[in-house]
Amino acid sequence: MRLRVNDQTHELDLPGEMPLLWVLRDALNLTGTKFGCGVAACGACTVLIDGEAARSCQVALADVWGPVTTIEGLGSPEAPTPLQAAWNDHQVAQCGYCQSGQIMQAAALLAENPAPTDDEIDDWMGGNLCRCGTYGRIRAAIHDAATRMQER
Ligand code: FES
Ligand code: FES
Repeated sequence: MRLRVNDQTHELDLPGEMPLLWVLRDALNLTGTKFGCGVAACGACTVLIDGEAARSCQVALADVWGPVTTIEGLGSPEAPTPLQAAWNDHQVAQCGYCQSGQIMQAAALLAENPAPTDDEIDDWMGGNLCRCGTYGRIRAAIHDAATRMQER
């Protein structure tokens, strides 16, 4: 089975029913994507598939409908995306466990809506849980990232 992840193509000999989350973490060693609940209830496992936010714990390998982007493929410490730079400047993360999922969900939001309101952010991000309660800083970072992206 062929899978494209972060602009690299992988030939995988794995069962088609294996959740994408396990493929990423166990087969490709892309451990930035986290396992939280396994039942689409937390958002920790969020990645982009063909630009759409997707819960990778719920997508079987055989059902992946396009190229996958994980947190490792979004930017880098040396060259962060405006979203990641805003995230850093607002020091959003506490324990960090939910944060790659939060950032991927936010990236999909800004791709679709370059200037979201507070309500739109809350609505879009509502399925991504943070036990550390970083929601206020997440919202601030998304607004900041939207401004940075418009100024580019
Ligand atoms: S681990 Fe996938 S939504 Fe929680
Ligand atoms: S930063 Fe700890 S769970 Fe979100």
